[in-house]
Amino acid sequence: MKKLISLTVNGKVYEVAVSPNQTLVDFLRNELDLIGTKKGCEVGDCGSCTVLMDGRPVNSCLVLAVQANGREIQTIEGLENPEGLHPIQKAFVEKGAIQCGFCTPGMILTAKSFLEKNPAPDREEIRKAISGNLCRCTGYQKIVDAIEAASVEMSRKE
Ligand code: FES
Ligand code: FES
Repeated sequence: MKKLISLTVNGKVYEVAVSPNQTLVDFLRNELDLIGTKKGCEVGDCGSCTVLMDGRPVNSCLVLAVQANGREIQTIEGLENPEGLHPIQKAFVEKGAIQCGFCTPGMILTAKSFLEKNPAPDREEIRKAISGNLCRCTGYQKIVDAIEAASVEMSRKE
Protein backbone atom coordinates (compact mmCIF):
# COMPACT_ATOMS: atom_id res chain seq x y z
CA MET A 1 0.00 0.00 0.00
CA LYS A 2 1.34 3.42 -0.96
CA LYS A 3 2.23 5.94 1.70
CA LEU A 4 1.70 9.67 1.46
CA ILE A 5 4.85 11.70 2.00
CA SER A 6 5.69 15.36 1.86
CA LEU A 7 9.18 16.50 0.95
CA THR A 8 10.98 19.45 -0.56
CA VAL A 9 13.08 18.86 -3.66
CA ASN A 10 15.17 21.72 -5.00
CA GLY A 11 13.01 24.19 -3.11
CA LYS A 12 9.69 22.82 -4.33
CA VAL A 13 7.28 21.02 -2.00
CA TYR A 14 5.81 17.70 -3.17
CA GLU A 15 3.04 15.68 -1.56
CA VAL A 16 3.07 12.29 -3.17
CA ALA A 17 2.07 8.70 -2.57
CA VAL A 18 5.02 6.32 -2.83
CA SER A 19 5.49 2.58 -2.57
CA PRO A 20 7.15 1.57 0.70
CA ASN A 21 10.02 -0.11 -1.14
CA GLN A 22 10.75 2.62 -3.68
CA THR A 23 14.24 4.05 -3.33
CA LEU A 24 14.85 7.77 -3.30
CA VAL A 25 16.94 7.55 -6.48
CA ASP A 26 14.09 5.83 -8.31
CA PHE A 27 11.59 8.33 -6.95
CA LEU A 28 13.69 11.28 -8.12
CA ARG A 29 14.41 9.81 -11.54
CA ASN A 30 11.12 8.11 -12.33
CA GLU A 31 8.50 10.24 -10.59
CA LEU A 32 10.09 13.71 -10.74
CA ASP A 33 12.11 13.17 -13.91
CA LEU A 34 15.27 14.45 -12.19
CA ILE A 35 17.60 12.20 -14.13
CA GLY A 36 20.72 14.18 -13.22
CA THR A 37 20.98 11.86 -10.23
CA LYS A 38 22.71 8.78 -11.62
CA LYS A 39 22.16 5.18 -10.69
CA GLY A 40 25.23 2.95 -10.74
CA CYS A 41 25.93 0.12 -8.33
CA GLU A 42 22.68 0.44 -6.32
CA VAL A 43 24.45 -0.91 -3.23
CA GLY A 44 26.11 2.18 -1.81
CA ASP A 45 29.57 1.68 -3.33
CA CYS A 46 29.91 4.20 -6.16
CA GLY A 47 28.36 7.48 -4.97
CA SER A 48 26.89 8.28 -8.38
CA CYS A 49 23.42 8.57 -6.79
CA THR A 50 24.54 11.14 -4.19
CA VAL A 51 22.02 13.84 -3.31
CA LEU A 52 21.91 16.20 -0.37
CA MET A 53 19.37 15.42 2.33
CA ASP A 54 19.04 18.34 4.75
CA GLY A 55 22.39 19.50 3.36
CA ARG A 56 24.26 16.23 3.92
CA PRO A 57 25.30 13.84 1.16
CA VAL A 58 23.49 10.50 1.07
CA ASN A 59 23.53 7.62 -1.36
CA SER A 60 19.98 7.86 -2.64
CA CYS A 61 20.04 4.19 -3.68
CA LEU A 62 20.21 3.30 0.01
CA VAL A 63 17.46 5.68 1.15
CA LEU A 64 13.81 4.81 0.73
CA ALA A 65 11.56 7.55 -0.59
CA VAL A 66 9.45 7.22 2.57
CA GLN A 67 12.55 8.05 4.63
CA ALA A 68 12.69 11.40 2.84
CA ASN A 69 9.34 12.35 4.34
CA GLY A 70 9.67 15.83 5.87
CA ARG A 71 13.19 16.26 4.51
CA GLU A 72 14.79 18.72 2.15
CA ILE A 73 16.47 17.18 -0.86
CA GLN A 74 18.82 18.87 -3.26
CA THR A 75 19.79 17.28 -6.57
CA ILE A 76 22.21 18.54 -9.20
CA GLU A 77 19.28 20.20 -10.99
CA GLY A 78 18.83 22.46 -7.97
CA LEU A 79 22.37 23.79 -7.96
CA GLU A 80 22.21 26.20 -10.84
CA ASN A 81 20.88 29.61 -9.88
CA PRO A 82 19.59 32.58 -11.90
CA GLU A 83 23.16 33.84 -12.31
CA GLY A 84 24.13 30.58 -13.95
CA LEU A 85 26.18 27.58 -12.94
CA HIS A 86 27.32 27.13 -9.35
CA PRO A 87 31.07 27.88 -8.90
CA ILE A 88 31.77 24.17 -8.37
CA GLN A 89 30.02 23.32 -11.64
CA LYS A 90 31.98 26.05 -13.41
CA ALA A 91 35.27 24.80 -11.97
CA PHE A 92 34.52 21.23 -13.11
CA VAL A 93 34.00 22.50 -16.66
CA GLU A 94 37.03 24.81 -16.63
CA LYS A 95 39.42 22.23 -15.13
CA GLY A 96 38.33 19.42 -17.44
CA ALA A 97 37.06 17.36 -14.49
CA ILE A 98 34.19 15.91 -16.52
CA GLN A 99 34.76 13.09 -18.97
CA CYS A 100 31.83 10.69 -19.31
CA GLY A 101 30.05 12.72 -16.62
CA PHE A 102 28.48 9.77 -14.84
CA CYS A 103 30.13 10.54 -11.50
CA THR A 104 29.86 14.32 -11.86
CA PRO A 105 26.49 15.13 -10.22
CA GLY A 106 27.30 13.08 -7.13
CA MET A 107 30.85 14.37 -6.99
CA ILE A 108 29.70 18.00 -7.18
CA LEU A 109 27.05 17.60 -4.48
CA THR A 110 29.55 15.89 -2.19
CA ALA A 111 31.97 18.75 -2.85
CA LYS A 112 29.31 21.35 -2.12
CA SER A 113 28.47 19.93 1.27
CA PHE A 114 32.18 19.48 2.04
CA LEU A 115 33.15 23.06 1.10
CA GLU A 116 30.35 24.43 3.26
CA LYS A 117 31.97 22.74 6.25
CA ASN A 118 35.58 23.24 5.17
CA PRO A 119 35.88 26.29 2.89
CA ALA A 120 39.68 26.17 2.55
CA PRO A 121 40.67 22.51 2.37
CA ASP A 122 44.03 21.10 1.31
CA ARG A 123 44.23 18.52 -1.47
CA GLU A 124 44.43 15.60 0.91
CA GLU A 125 41.25 16.70 2.64
CA ILE A 126 39.54 17.02 -0.75
CA ARG A 127 40.62 13.51 -1.73
CA LYS A 128 39.28 12.14 1.53
CA ALA A 129 35.98 14.01 1.14
CA ILE A 130 35.32 12.50 -2.29
CA SER A 131 36.56 9.03 -1.41
CA GLY A 132 33.00 7.66 -1.51
CA ASN A 133 32.46 8.91 -5.06
CA LEU A 134 34.09 6.71 -7.68
CA CYS A 135 35.29 8.00 -11.03
CA ARG A 136 36.45 5.55 -13.66
CA CYS A 137 37.62 8.21 -16.13
CA THR A 138 39.61 11.12 -14.74
CA GLY A 139 42.12 9.65 -12.32
CA TYR A 140 40.74 12.18 -9.80
CA GLN A 141 43.51 14.75 -10.34
CA LYS A 142 41.33 17.16 -12.30
CA ILE A 143 38.43 16.68 -9.92
CA VAL A 144 40.66 17.66 -7.01
CA ASP A 145 41.94 20.63 -9.08
CA ALA A 146 38.34 21.72 -9.71
CA ILE A 147 37.24 21.49 -6.08
CA GLU A 148 40.37 23.36 -5.00
CA ALA A 149 39.72 26.10 -7.59
CA ALA A 150 36.06 26.31 -6.53
CA SER A 151 37.05 26.72 -2.88
CA VAL A 152 39.28 29.67 -3.80
CA GLU A 153 36.58 31.23 -5.96
CA MET A 154 33.87 30.73 -3.35
CA SER A 155 36.01 32.26 -0.56
CA ARG A 156 36.79 35.22 -2.81
CA LYS A 157 33.08 35.93 -3.23
CA GLU A 158 32.31 35.90 0.50
S1 FES B 1 24.13 3.82 -7.15
FE1 FES B 1 24.06 4.47 -5.12
S2 FES B 1 26.07 4.25 -4.38
FE2 FES B 1 26.13 3.42 -6.39
S1 FES C 1 33.94 11.31 -15.50
FE1 FES C 1 33.39 9.28 -16.04
S2 FES C 1 33.08 8.30 -14.13
FE2 FES C 1 33.89 10.24 -13.60
